[in-house]
Amino acid sequence: MCAGASTYEALQAAGTKPSDRVGVVGIGGLGHMANVFARAMGYSVTAVTRDEYKYRDLFRLGADEVRIDRGGTLDLATFPSSVGGELGPTYGILPDPMHIDVLLITSNAVRDLEACFPLLARRAKIVLMTIQTDPIKIPYMPFILPGHRLVASTEASHHNHFEMLEFVESHRIEPLVETFPMTLEGAMRAFDRLEKGEMRYRGVLVREDEEQTRKRRREYC
Ligand SMILES: NC(=O)c1ccc[n+]([C@@H]2O[C@H](COP(=O)([O-])OP(=O)(O)OC[C@H]3O[C@@H](n4cnc5c(N)ncnc54)[C@H](OP(=O)(O)O)[C@@H]3O)[C@@H](O)[C@H]2O)c1
Repeated sequence: MCAGASTYEALQAAGTKPSDRVGVVGIGGLGHMANVFARAMGYSVTAVTRDEYKYRDLFRLGADEVRIDRGGTLDLATFPSSVGGELGPTYGILPDPMHIDVLLITSNAVRDLEACFPLLARRAKIVLMTIQTDPIKIPYMPFILPGHRLVASTEASHHNHFEMLEFVESHRIEPLVETFPMTLEGAMRAFDRLEKGEMRYRGVLVREDEEQTRKRRREYC
């Protein structure tokens, strides 16, 4: 709910237009929903992650470009065969990157923003969603010359919560979640995966009877 409403709000806060390319930096709970929403709304999507093992999910979640953040460079992940092929990604830099108009920062800490600048269109909007206490550094000239803008987005409005739920229902969108039993052991396992950065992409604690109902529903479907 939080990840969905927040990213829905952020896309709106940036005034995203139908012809825009949306970039998403940091693919966790928020980032994966941002990918799905942006795609369902008809935008082209560039996903930026530090974790190259996420590339398969990202193409499935709707990204048409995936960049691997290697701390300073954003390498392009492309597929030598079809998506899901066994060969895995190859890496390269596109001579002509697909320019991003709206860049959502959904990572747990704001990374080196300058590394993203070559990917940005003129007058791009960088939407800061990360909650952190550290100040951020913006290189001045590369920011003002192309006329980029910073937008902050937190706390989706009441109205947008409802609108998001209607959108999700009409587009049959579901988050990718991992479920764990609502027990001490289940919670510890969930936190362990979360802290190791292994959660795909939200951890949900469920009561055992609910888990069985879910399983039955999945088997039935
Ligand atoms: N503005 C809002 O409305 C709003 C609402 C809720 C949460 N938030 C904030 O949004 C951020 C993301 O929340 P989330 O629930 O999506 O978190 P999450 O599920 O943990 O995902 C965050 C992602 O950030 C990347 N990451 C992890 N540690 C990092 C680090 N030390 N430095 C840089 N990147 C890192 C990882 O992506 P990759 O592996 O793909 O790089 C990770 O999957 C948090 O700061 C949270 O407090 C904001």
